[in-house]
Amino acid sequence: MPNSDGSGSASSASDEILYIGIDLGTSQSAVATSTGIRRTVASVVGWPKDLISYKMLKKKVVIGEECLKNRMAVDMIWPQEQGVLRYRPSDPGADAGSREAEAVRHLTSFIVEMTEPQPGQEIRAVIGAPARSTREDRQAVIDSVDGLLDHAIVASEPFLVAYGLELFNNALIIDIGAGTLDLCRMHGTIPIDEDQRTLAKAGNYIDHRFHMLLQDRIKDSHVTLEMARRIKEQYAFVSSQKEVISIDFQVSGKPRSYDVTDSLREACESILPEIITHARELIVTYDQEFQQELRQNIVLAGGGSQIRGLAEELRSNLTEFGPCRVTAVDDPVYAGAIGALKLAQDMPTSEWEQAREA
Ligand SMILES: Nc1ncnc2c1ncn2[C@@H]1O[C@H](COP(=O)(O)OP(=O)(O)OP(=O)(O)O)[C@@H](O)[C@H]1O
Ligand SMILES: [Mg+2]
Repeated sequence: MPNSDGSGSASSASDEILYIGIDLGTSQSAVATSTGIRRTVASVVGWPKDLISYKMLKKKVVIGEECLKNRMAVDMIWPQEQGVLRYRPSDPGADAGSREAEAVRHLTSFIVEMTEPQPGQEIRAVIGAPARSTREDRQAVIDSVDGLLDHAIVASEPFLVAYGLELFNNALIIDIGAGTLDLCRMHGTIPIDEDQRTLAKAGNYIDHRFHMLLQDRIKDSHVTLEMARRIKEQYAFVSSQKEVISIDFQVSGKPRSYDVTDSLREACESILPEIITHARELIVTYDQEFQQELRQNIVLAGGGSQIRGLAEELRSNLTEFGPCRVTAVDDPVYAGAIGALKLAQDMPTSEWEQAREA
């Protein structure tokens, strides 16, 4: 296809545009680009605490894994809370000079840098947000990339996962992130509010619950939230399993083994009742003729989809209306960003031109 001036090839035209899909996550953000880049960064920004920290880090700001690795030496800010940016210019009294505002800016700049844009390239981005985020929340995301790229569109995270998997019709996506758990029902058109839910009990909620249970049990050892999260990410499970999860904690300087099986099960299962209630509601309020097919296409995404036994537990709790099939995406880290990239590439130029400039 010729360019508008009739001279160049299709490939040179598309090379002038960099398409990116961004999953701006509470705990981790992921990007996928039309140039084949796939990268992640922990969504955290840190400032050296004092002169010694500054001398050691040799940087005014550290981002992502570098920040986590040096967490004793920095003041950290996670720019998102429950899937929503902590700095929203539209908020009354919002201070553009605040640490929160700076943190948001540092993180989005870092994410855009990871996509390696070339000089002169036009950048078009689709960015994921929680399913039921407000207009103000979405505007804050657009504002956060102001000047960093040319056009940005914000879309529902679980919808982007569905789009990437080409699950356009009769499918239910359940995206279990850190800050939010999002459900989205697909019915052959762009989902509207009544097709979607955003729940506050997700990965971080499990971590806090598990941390509390560990602190109650292991009184002689200092158990941190980070430790609880790491154990969860390695062993998370729901329902009965034979395996005993035994973890060593330092008690008076010596390792002592604790059985954490029941505490971990209780914490992971704490998010189940709400998922089941909302998944049920989305199924029973669906057009009856297509409910059977919807029940066959229930897909888990997000980091929490890796909780062992979760698909089976949900399946068995949703079968009262008829047989269900629940599966988990193969790539929980990139499913959202890849869906966002695909949507960015599929959107006609006319729509990009109408989309708000970033
Ligand atoms: N193997 C695992 N088992 C259970 N949970 C896990 C596992 N690996 C990661 N997680 C959890 O998944 C969550 C991160 O998932 P994800 O990256 O999808 O979230 P996010 O996009 O950062 O958050 P949100 O979508 O809420 O903004 C964290 O709570 C993390 O602890
Ligand atoms: Mg997410």
